[in-house]
Amino acid sequence: MSPILENARCPVNDTTKLLDTSGKSALITGATGKLGSPADGMLTEEESLNLPNSSARGLDVAIIGAGLMGHALAAIFAAAGSRVTLCETDSTTLASAKQRMRSSLEAADLDPNAADAIRLVNSLDSLDPECRFVTEAISENLRLKQELFRDLEKRLPQALLASNTSVLSIGEVARLMTSPERSLGTHWWNPPYLVPLVEVVQGPQTRLEYVQWTMALLRRVYK
Ligand SMILES: NC(=O)c1ccc[n+]([C@@H]2O[C@H](COP(=O)([O-])OP(=O)(O)OC[C@H]3O[C@@H](n4cnc5c(N)ncnc54)[C@H](O)[C@@H]3O)[C@@H](O)[C@H]2O)c1
Repeated sequence: MSPILENARCPVNDTTKLLDTSGKSALITGATGKLGSPADGMLTEEESLNLPNSSARGLDVAIIGAGLMGHALAAIFAAAGSRVTLCETDSTTLASAKQRMRSSLEAADLDPNAADAIRLVNSLDSLDPECRFVTEAISENLRLKQELFRDLEKRLPQALLASNTSVLSIGEVARLMTSPERSLGTHWWNPPYLVPLVEVVQGPQTRLEYVQWTMALLRRVYK
């Protein structure tokens, strides 16, 4: 992980933004702007997720929502060798997902056949409980995202939960969770297969170690 070189303070709701001058990644922290430990009362070391190394290859990844952003995120992780499940509730959108993923991979000069290995599902019931990293890219609706995170944390006890929200607070998205330290933001730019920047957002209760792990993972998918 390259160091954060520039501390460009610019208000994003109540957050401070730290930019990596390589232009490829950005970390947004909580109100203090300090890269400190999560709030008191969070998981002990023994209770924390036992995350594997941050290689994308072979990692169990789930993407929720196969719209404009979600289909492309699934394709990017699959192209990097992750085992990807893409969950979409709308049958028409799900039916077109494979072809859209192939097109996006071609546009990025990546192997379109990577899309063939992606598992398409229409319900959270079909997610693999072994999944380690989830990104939600469902509609920009706070209540929907809150309920999704509450549901996902029960179904996927070993996973970090990332939100691709553009404007919502990660603390709010995680508000119904019992372990909000597992939540964070990963804000990809459209089109994600061409834009190398992803903002990684540390919510008020996000465990710093999980933010660092996510940033390392995103570098493995060339972000
Ligand atoms: N469009 C952009 O340029 C852009 C850029 C950065 C971030 N974002 C953010 O990414 C997220 C997704 O945006 P988008 O443009 O891809 O939206 P979209 O409307 O194209 O896709 C959202 C998809 O989520 C599906 N969905 C809704 N609820 C679901 C659920 N519970 N389970 C599974 N699927 C569900 C919908 O059927 C839809 O296909 C939003 O939070 C948005 O703010 C969008």
